[in-house]
Formats: sequence, structure tokens, C-alpha cells
Amino acid sequence: MKLSHLALATAFACGSLSSLGWAAKPTEPVSPIQPAKVTNPKLVELGKKLYFDPRLSKSGFISCNSCHNLSMGGTDNLKTSIGHNWQKGPINAPTVLNSSLALAQFWDGRAKDLKAQAGGPIANPGEMAFTHELAVDVLKSIPQYVTEFKTVFGSDEVSIGKVTDAIAAFEETLVTPNSRFDKWLKGDKKAITAREAAGYALFKNSGCVACHNGPAFGGTSFQKMGVVEAYKATSPAEGRSAVTGKDADRLNFKVPTLRNVELTYPYFHDGEAATLEQAVDTMGRLQLGKQFTADENASIVAFLKTLTGDQPAFKLPQLPPSSNTTPRPKPFE
Ligand code: HEC
Ligand code: HEC
Repeated sequence: MKLSHLALATAFACGSLSSLGWAAKPTEPVSPIQPAKVTNPKLVELGKKLYFDPRLSKSGFISCNSCHNLSMGGTDNLKTSIGHNWQKGPINAPTVLNSSLALAQFWDGRAKDLKAQAGGPIANPGEMAFTHELAVDVLKSIPQYVTEFKTVFGSDEVSIGKVTDAIAAFEETLVTPNSRFDKWLKGDKKAITAREAAGYALFKNSGCVACHNGPAFGGTSFQKMGVVEAYKATSPAEGRSAVTGKDADRLNFKVPTLRNVELTYPYFHDGEAATLEQAVDTMGRLQLGKQFTADENASIVAFLKTLTGDQPAFKLPQLPPSSNTTPRPKPFE
């Protein structure tokens, strides 16, 4: 895909075609978000229920939506998350919106895809603090879930593999097309203001797109936090080196998506940047050795706010009631 973009760019580079405006488009390092194609709506529906079901946690209180709140851009808007027993989490919760577009999951990329990721939090003692066996036992004890698993998978056996399949299928629908920026990319010149367009130009020309590219404006590579100037980390998170074992990968993180970034504060893996202005300033200095003026910073921030797309819109799922044999939650253990 990259190659064909380049080929087109060369073809358009000569002659007066560039004056058409559209001619420059194939060179854009970013592209619009495509709406989700749902191939198995029943699987998605089951995944949605599981995503909202706090009974997958030991406390019976924490669901995926507790930390990836779909009313708040798929995040908890906290510096670091609150887990079981009000434990302080070690790292900022990234958004689940558009996460299907990323090359891997987690800040350090230790899960290869959404299915591999989804089992993690259920059994993480600092998050939902359950075990896969107990979570499956809970689901098995709820007759309507058993029926639904049978409808979706053709057998009434409930397993963690099926649970994570369903949650991943639901997460794949959590894309956010139709942002003002995407409308502009597709040719609607009035979709963004002159200031926002100037912000995008600055974003491109300053070199932000070297890392924040593709449809998600990120998620395509792992990069050092602190390229030109070192990042003074406040948390023990070491980044990609935790996966590769290579010291050179210390503080390398998956480049986060900038889609919906207006909604996903605070910023960075440690949540240290409270505002978008602060995040942009830090990025300019640490990644590019550039000190933006207040006006430049404001333009980039204005542009970043055009990346907010259609948020997931669906009927809130109604969860099937527990039965008399459902293991009871243990919120205070
Ligand atoms: C207690 C808060 C909490 C709960 C509950 C939780 N998560 Fe997360 N989630 C996080 C944090 C924190 C991270 C980042 C961890 C890391 O990168 O090391 C994360 C990362 C992720 C990611 C990776 C996103 C990316 O861009 O890398 C996905 C996807 C995700 N969670 C989905 C889920 C699902 C599905 C559930 C329910 C089964 C869930 N989470 C439950 C806090 C939570
Ligand atoms: C060398 C690669 C690179 C360049 C260049 C770069 N970034 Fe980043 N960006 C990253 C990485 C990696 C992170 C995550 C850092 C962390 O969490 O510690 C990040 C995080 C961010 C965040 C916070 C997102 C979030 O959800 O936490 C924003 C906003 C951002 N970058 C904007 C920009 C802007 C604007 C520019 C240009 C001025 C830029 N970046 C240049 C790699 C880069």
C-alpha cells in the first residue's frame, strides 16, 4: 500500500496536476477510518455483553467498560487505572477505540491482537483479579449465556477462548469514522477551518507523521519516548524492552493513536500530560527538538480535535441475570 502511494506521488509530482488539489492527496501519510464491517452480528452482540459484564471480575464490579468507558472515548480519563480493591494501576489505560488498527496491543505490544489481549485483564490481579476458570464457571451458571454461546458457536460449551473471540469481535466494531478531518481528507474543503488545516500542515511538516501515521495516526510502530531529549519517566514502565529483552528498546512504546485524542486525556503511558497542549509541547521538544510557539501549539491542538469521529452508538446491552447457582461476587477480598 505504501509503495503504490509513492508511485502515485511520483506520477503526480510533475506537471500542473498538483494544482488540482486532489493530486496531492495520494501522498497523505494518513487515511480515513473505514466503518466496521460486521460479518457475525450475533458474535458481536455476545461480545458486547461480555464487555459490559462486571461478573467477569472477582468483585462483580469491574467490567472492561470500567476502565475503557465507551461514554468517555474508550478510556477512564485517569492517570493510571483503578483495579480490584482500589489498587493503583501501573500505567495509563489506552483507548479501545480503533485498537483493531494497531500492529499489536498494550503499550509494549506484548499481545499480538485483540483476542490475545482480552484474556489478560480478567486474570490480572491488579485489574479484574479473577481467573479464567472462575469467569467461565460464572458464565456457565447463567442459563441465558449458555443458550447464547450455543447459538453463536454451535455448542453449549463455554470456554475462555470463546469469551475472548466474542470480546475481540465486539472491539473490532469500535472504530470511529466520519471525523471532520476524514471528511476533509475525502474532499470536503469546508469540513475543517483554516486554523485546523494549518495545524495539520504543521503536524506534517514538523515530522509528527514519521510516527503518527496510517488510518489511526499511530499504532503502526514502536518508537522511543524521548528521541532528541530524554524523557524523565515517573513510572517503572520500561516499554518494549520488557518484551524483547533488549536494552535498546527501553522506553520504546507503541505509538498511540491520535484518533479521538480530545477525549482520551490524560496522555502518555504514565498519564503525566494532563492536557493536549502539554502533550504537543512535550512531543515537539522531546521527539523533534522543536519548541512550538503558543500559536503553533494552538493550531496543532485545534487540528488534533478534528480527529474525533463517530463514537460507538448502540443499545446498551441488557445482561442476563445470575442464577441461584452463580458464584457470588467477592468485592472485599
Ligand atoms: C482496571 C482497569 C482495566 C480493566 C478492567 C480492563 N483494562 Fe484494558 N487496559 C487497561 C490498561 C491500564 C491497559 C494498558 C496496559 C499496558 O499497556 O501494559 C489496557 C490495555 C488494553 C488494550 C490495549 C489497547 C492498546 O492500544 O494497546 C485493550 C484492547 C484493552 N485493554 C481491552 C480490555 C478489555 C477487552 C477488557 C475486559 C476484558 C479490559 N481491557 C479491562 C486497563 C483496564
Ligand atoms: C519518534 C516518534 C514520534 C514523533 C516524531 C512524534 N510522536 Fe507523538 N508519540 C510517540 C510515542 C512513542 C508516544 C507515546 C509516548 C509515551 O506514552 O510515553 C507519543 C504520544 C503522543 C501523544 C499522546 C497520545 C496519548 O494518547 O497518550 C500525542 C498527543 C502526540 N504523541 C502528538 C504528537 C505530535 C503533535 C507530534 C509532532 C509535534 C508527535 N507526537 C511526534 C511517538 C512520536
